[in-house]
Amino acid sequence: MRPLLYFFQRKSKPQAFKPVVLVTGCSAGIGLALAELLYNCQEYRVVATAREHSLEKVRSHFLENDRFMIRPLDVTIEGDRVRLYNEIQKTWGGVDILINNAGISYRSVIEHMTEKDEELQMATNYFGPMGLIRLSLPHMRATGRGKIINISSVSGMLAMPTMASYSASKFALEGASEALWYEMRPFGVTITLVQPGFIHSNSFKNVYHTELSDPTRNWSGPYCDFYQNMTPFVEKMMNMSLTTPEKIAKQVLKVMKQENPPLWIPATLDATLFYYIRRLLPRRILLPFLYWNLPKARTWSKEHSHRRQK
Ligand SMILES: NC(=O)c1ccc[n+]([C@@H]2O[C@H](COP(=O)([O-])OP(=O)(O)OC[C@H]3O[C@@H](n4cnc5c(N)ncnc54)[C@H](OP(=O)(O)O)[C@@H]3O)[C@@H](O)[C@H]2O)c1
Repeated sequence: MRPLLYFFQRKSKPQAFKPVVLVTGCSAGIGLALAELLYNCQEYRVVATAREHSLEKVRSHFLENDRFMIRPLDVTIEGDRVRLYNEIQKTWGGVDILINNAGISYRSVIEHMTEKDEELQMATNYFGPMGLIRLSLPHMRATGRGKIINISSVSGMLAMPTMASYSASKFALEGASEALWYEMRPFGVTITLVQPGFIHSNSFKNVYHTELSDPTRNWSGPYCDFYQNMTPFVEKMMNMSLTTPEKIAKQVLKVMKQENPPLWIPATLDATLFYYIRRLLPRRILLPFLYWNLPKARTWSKEHSHRRQK
């Protein structure tokens, strides 16, 4: 009888250590779903962040309390990152679980991107997350535990036309995370890339366009077919997807609870499929195979092409 009593006493003991979780981009999609989940998880202290212009939206969902704060953070601004980290350090000692979720996605062929566009894409999806990681690591190493969870994408495994810059930013995030896995191995800090594919959400409405890829310009010219086919294709796949932001948020929570989570987690069915396609198809076949499966790809840019016939 005694051991059983001991078990129940141990189970009911309040948890002493409440890890501090910092989540970026909580105004919409996965970030909002995750903040909603964490709002009710008593075992964590949470810093839910959003850009200044979206803070009101976040505040309309949650009330701050002694374990849930809402703070402004534009991940591209170093001053924002440092100010917030200093406040967290002062209040709660540091960040134990960092979730780099905030992200943007440009829809543009490479020729239509400007250097400024490329910089914003990389600043949001790569430099910002790296800055937050650098701020968080000293505390994580000092305490001998910590988790970094980067929301990546299928675009971090495979690049698609009109999404070059987005893919480049996620490939960069994947490469750095892989190196960090080794660097953090001796210190007890884990790193995980959650890789969603198509998600049933409105986030395709938030896609960024460049001056030349802007759909209101009534696409014309050599890349017109790429835009005319890729945009509805991506929207259709997102509408058809069975995975919601809430489902991804649950996967992230699962990673948070795991002692030793894996580095890569394909988070949707298509992500798992693309993972195997990339691994198993010979390289010579991989890209032509994917190309022929894009909508009407055989006819793309025919009347603009000067390709020489053999
Ligand atoms: N949706 C998908 O199908 C999909 C698939 C694969 C991967 N992902 C990845 O999942 C993550 C979340 O995407 P989502 O689908 O939830 O997109 P979303 O609905 O468009 O939400 C993106 C979030 O990031 C925030 N954000 C953008 N720029 C920011 C900045 N400079 N600083 C701070 N926050 C910023 C947005 O806030 P504002 O309100 O301020 O704009 C918003 O809260 C992204 O990293 C994305 O690449 C999404």
